[in-house]
Amino acid sequence: MIPQPFIYDLLNRVDIVDAIDRHVPLKKAGANFVACCPFHSEKTPSFTVSQTKQFYHCFGCGAHGNAISFLIEYSGLSFVEAVHDLAAYVGMQVPEQQTDAPSKQTAPDDLSQYPANGLGSSDPEISPQDLLSALQVATRFYREQLKISEKAIAYLKKRGLSGKTAARFAIGYAPAGWQNLETVFSDYKSERTRKILLLAGLVVINDEAKQYDRFRDRIMFPILNQKGQIIGFGGRVLAQEEPKYLNSPETALFEKGRELYNFFSARRAIREANCVIVVEGYMDVIALSQYGIDYAVAALGTATTSFHIQKLLRQTDNIIFCFDGDKAGRKAAWRALENSLALLSDGKYLSFLFLPEGADPDSYVNQYGKESFEQQLKQAIPLSEFLFRELCSGANLQTSEGRAKLVSDAKPLLQQVAAPALSVMLVRRLGELSGINQGELEGLLQIKRAPRTHSVKNTSRKQPITPYRRLVRMLLYSPSHIAKLDRYLLVQSSENNEEVAALNALVDFLDTHPHLIVSKSAHSILTYLQNSPYRALLEDIESETLEWDSAIDLEEEFFEVLEKLQQAQRKKRMTELHSKSLDRLTDEEKRELQRLAMK
Ligand code: UTP
Ligand code: MN
Repeated sequence: MIPQPFIYDLLNRVDIVDAIDRHVPLKKAGANFVACCPFHSEKTPSFTVSQTKQFYHCFGCGAHGNAISFLIEYSGLSFVEAVHDLAAYVGMQVPEQQTDAPSKQTAPDDLSQYPANGLGSSDPEISPQDLLSALQVATRFYREQLKISEKAIAYLKKRGLSGKTAARFAIGYAPAGWQNLETVFSDYKSERTRKILLLAGLVVINDEAKQYDRFRDRIMFPILNQKGQIIGFGGRVLAQEEPKYLNSPETALFEKGRELYNFFSARRAIREANCVIVVEGYMDVIALSQYGIDYAVAALGTATTSFHIQKLLRQTDNIIFCFDGDKAGRKAAWRALENSLALLSDGKYLSFLFLPEGADPDSYVNQYGKESFEQQLKQAIPLSEFLFRELCSGANLQTSEGRAKLVSDAKPLLQQVAAPALSVMLVRRLGELSGINQGELEGLLQIKRAPRTHSVKNTSRKQPITPYRRLVRMLLYSPSHIAKLDRYLLVQSSENNEEVAALNALVDFLDTHPHLIVSKSAHSILTYLQNSPYRALLEDIESETLEWDSAIDLEEEFFEVLEKLQQAQRKKRMTELHSKSLDRLTDEEKRELQRLAMK
């Protein structure tokens, strides 16, 4: 957990225009900055960044947020990573987390067998930067070695790889021999360098404290993190040997369950294709890329985790898992499915492609070419179909017992699906297959339907702008106006719509956080309302202020809105009083009615 105040400090320090411009060059346009939206494809810029309000909004696709959310969406970083990235950029130190949660649960395989003598990755003298530099030096060495190894070049040629592709993926060759890195790192013998190489996973230390190169006589595939830094390697043998692939151990930099091979380089292609293919192997990714399919990634010798899926869903709504048609491939696909269910939302589309037995994407694309592979992609079966196909294959639906088993197998899976429409459809399908009606089934499955929250998304509003909406807009733009807001205008509003609810939530928030208003911060008040059920609506309303500049007469707008609210209230009250028959009105009410009528 990063302390909230730090996040607000950070957002105050960062200029969103700089932060975005680093990735997407922005052009000044009136009061704002614009660019073609990085989140959907378009020819004319509708992606708008406000420097005064420190948020971005795309009028095309509705993307909206601050500097942190931009990095999350654009670079696929996690929240914590995005905060660290921005902090480093403006030279702020992220405070140490103070929680008693267990620390990172990874088994640093080779480190654990080494006596605990202070070689933890938290070693004060050694920084992540040291490890990154060492990996970079090693990559350079392996690449040079590839150039002079006939054997390695012949192997890659045999597998159909062009020199250009090899260079693009920074493929190298670790020569045979146990001590090659000794010639690469000048102060190899020093205690510090030994530690760095060990912690970077480049060397192994045996029981007799003897140090030797981890990768020997292998084709080297550098693995990049999402900033494009090399954090580890996969190393493949050239002949038939075991293990076929040797991967870097988990290190301070490299956590297998979180990284995807080729993710960094594929991001743009993924967004352009609005689709990502998840394949099993390094060579699959590389072969597809050589054939012009650049939107493929691979898990690194692990199952597809929910981190992987989350990361990919931030880039695209459409994931195609392309696994081998054999038993192992189906199992891998099933794991991916299990890890996806909870992350699905309506509008996301996950599907599965099983290539013919014996083929993998690498062999397939080499044999049949790009078009044929893309044709195959179109045949991918949707997640729901794969789900029921697998579930049914384990139950005899001719019998009641079999159908009951189907329901009980499906239960833990369907319970995870939070996407409302998908969930309904899955339950309906299960009903058809099991012969149990939907109502009974929902009872059996104990599926709770989440309340709908984001119902107002980008509907083109034809109705006139309500005063409530105008007031929200006003307060988002200028929170200090809350001081001049007559609360009775809100209390009396019985209109029960989402705008009123959002307004009340916003007013409540401002009332309880007066310090935020006094020390008028540079960033949008919405930064604090990321978890609000009205977030989508508030973002939508905030985007309307992008057109505002210093020429706008805030006071006039404000008092006009208040007047409109008063009028609305007056009307409402009069209707209320009129609806009572006159003889049942109290004297007080009669006087009130008179007063109202005269206004
Ligand atoms: P594959 O054996 O399908 O790899 O394993 P591949 O990429 O098709 O290999 P080639 O075509 O024979 O070169 C899929 C992935 O599983 C991991 C690697 O990440 C590999 O890319 N793996 C496989 C290992 O980590 N270790 C192994 O020994 C084998
Ligand atoms: Mn293969």
